[in-house]
Amino acid sequence: MKKLIFILPALLLLMSCQPKESGSGKSDMDAFVNDLMSKMTIQEKIGQLNLVTPGGGILTGSVVSTDVESKIKNGQVGGIFGVYGPEKTRQAQKLAVEESRLGIPMLFGSDVIHGYKTTFPLPLGLASSWDMELIEKTAQIAAKEATADGIFWNFSPMVDISRDPRWGRISEGSGEDPYLGSQIARAMVKGYQQDDLTRSNTMMSTVKHFALYGASEAGRDYNTVDMSRLRMFNDYFPPYKAAVDEGVGCVMSSFNDVDGVPASGNKWLLTDVLRNQWGFDGFVVSDYTSVNEMIAHGMGDLQAVSALALKAGLDMDMVGEGFLTTLEKSLEEGKVSEADINLACRRVLEAKYKLGLFDDPYRYFDDARPAKDILTAENRKVAREAAARTMVLLKNEEQLLPLKKSGTIALVGPLVDSRNNMLGTWAPTGETRYAVTVKEGFENVVGESVNVLYARGANISDDPEFAAKINVFGPKIEIDERSPEAMINEALAAAKKADVVVAVVGEATEMTGESSSLTDISLPECQKKLVRALAKTGKPLVVVNMSGRPMTIGEENELADALLQVWHAGVETGNALADVIFGDYNPSGKLTATFPRNVGQIPIYYALRNTGRPQDGEQFTKFKSNYLDVSNTPLFPFGYGLSYTRFEYKELVLDKSTLTNTDEIKVSVSVTNTGNFDGEEVVQLYVRDEVASITLPLRELKGFQKVFIPKGDTKEVVFTLRAGDLAFYHSDLSFSAEPGEFTVFVGGDSNASLSAKFSLE
Ligand code: BGC
Repeated sequence: MKKLIFILPALLLLMSCQPKESGSGKSDMDAFVNDLMSKMTIQEKIGQLNLVTPGGGILTGSVVSTDVESKIKNGQVGGIFGVYGPEKTRQAQKLAVEESRLGIPMLFGSDVIHGYKTTFPLPLGLASSWDMELIEKTAQIAAKEATADGIFWNFSPMVDISRDPRWGRISEGSGEDPYLGSQIARAMVKGYQQDDLTRSNTMMSTVKHFALYGASEAGRDYNTVDMSRLRMFNDYFPPYKAAVDEGVGCVMSSFNDVDGVPASGNKWLLTDVLRNQWGFDGFVVSDYTSVNEMIAHGMGDLQAVSALALKAGLDMDMVGEGFLTTLEKSLEEGKVSEADINLACRRVLEAKYKLGLFDDPYRYFDDARPAKDILTAENRKVAREAAARTMVLLKNEEQLLPLKKSGTIALVGPLVDSRNNMLGTWAPTGETRYAVTVKEGFENVVGESVNVLYARGANISDDPEFAAKINVFGPKIEIDERSPEAMINEALAAAKKADVVVAVVGEATEMTGESSSLTDISLPECQKKLVRALAKTGKPLVVVNMSGRPMTIGEENELADALLQVWHAGVETGNALADVIFGDYNPSGKLTATFPRNVGQIPIYYALRNTGRPQDGEQFTKFKSNYLDVSNTPLFPFGYGLSYTRFEYKELVLDKSTLTNTDEIKVSVSVTNTGNFDGEEVVQLYVRDEVASITLPLRELKGFQKVFIPKGDTKEVVFTLRAGDLAFYHSDLSFSAEPGEFTVFVGGDSNASLSAKFSLE
């Protein structure tokens, strides 16, 4: 009885502010939010700006919210993350809806960055598919599964451009290129939101981390970022903007500083650029305690940094509770205004309105859905296809791959039978027990027809101190009781009996991701020794490198007959890898981040500007821009990836030689599959602006198409270029194309040599 008395006023109040027809236009939403806000106290408004996590799941910071239940009941929580399943989310929502004074429902968030329970390859891998339809589909499936489990606000996509593979989080993004990154940003937002947030199987997407997080100095996580505005606008901002243009509901601010001011308190970034220039109308959430972290950045005490963040345009404070505990005082002291608080509160309430939560706060909590929608056979099928499509064939001497489904294969390496390392970093909602190992994948695909001899051969790392740092979320590096020599000997014994050796080496999943920066991105020494020993046997050697970042694997490239880059490919890794190795799928992945020869070449990327003293080919030339000890070229360039077949490019034709501001130019090329397999090719188009008012990259990706070409066939691939595609930001940050000469290059990677010229009037 006591409870009912408590619940009734809240329910009545909520019912009194039920929207008549949610989603029926901005004016309805405004009227609804105005009405609701007129009933709110200042404390309740500040409460909406508070995002909590009760702990229990995997956390990325040292602080956890406390007294969550009483805070919810007191109207001090706007959103929550780290609570999963319809039952638990419903219980928590009930506290807000039935026990807080106004009964305002909460947002339920999570990081669902490469699948929910059906874990897809990590984002850098997915990007390597260059397949926008596929990427959108994986996001759509992730949304369906997450919403079935009560989560409807996603902290994804991460679109930070990165040209530094030392940075562990390069694995969470799409790589180095702003054009490709923008297409992927759009595909993911579309996949999550499906242009319709009112559906119960779509979720609100958050683009992160705004901004420039991928350019942390020296690849060290959370580090300072300092770059010119020209570079920001031309090279690093485009994917965030693309997500905004696609209608993303939320933006997450980044940990780093931008031009001297931490992103979470940077008004120029969060208001002038994001809202005033780009027209973003959703809400901005901080990253995990990033408001509080501005104290360490030297921006003042908690009250000062919280006021700074609010005034900069940050609406919701993740975990740190700077807003909750200081904004009222700042209001009394005139450091923030009621209008500042109202604006942030309005944006959070609008997000809830758009999600239909005021119509039905329990709409995502359906007990029947998890069993129906999560980890279905259909979803796993997409995960298997996706995983196969992300693998990049880097070398294939004498067509060693695909292997025949007969004979004896030595399958060796620390990642062959390592279920804990298949899903990839930052898959907090995935479960390793569902992952298919490489060993199982081989068994599934070749059954009895191949005699597979298995040996571990080496640990991922022999160093217990290093292993302890990697194993914070569970055992990823498990050091064998046997000596390294005994393990190598076992592998060699298997190799000697085999027709071919497949060595699966690389990184444990937590060697990439957040707070996993490395200064040495080669294989750990014990794995190098294994590859060297296997190569010495003289048996044909396939090296499979599994990692979340580009690695310096020059030596392995020399030693191996075939080299396949596999990333951490998600729940179906083992099956998909076997599909590729045995030719059931012909690899079509292409790199989206350059592989350096050594760490000294970093930052490394294809879209280089020329210097006044360009290097002369591969050779060292005195007084040119080059190194004494290594060539300027990478180990593997952006866009690179082989197939079991070959593609020949011919007849690059432009339908006109002069483009104007109002028309378009058609660029066509014929691509012939001259090999022995059907296959897909990512046809890439790059443009060089020959003379401009600022220094521009020697070539920039401006188009790509992934096409299937049966063996022996030729396909004509046609691209369309308009003046807008040639536009860039100038020194005054205006955006337009400059008339003049352009060269277009088309081919299968960023070194594409087929070229033609046109001019823009
Ligand atoms: C990460 C974000 C993530 C957040 C919540 C932070 O440490 O930087 O990407 O969304 O934690 O889990």
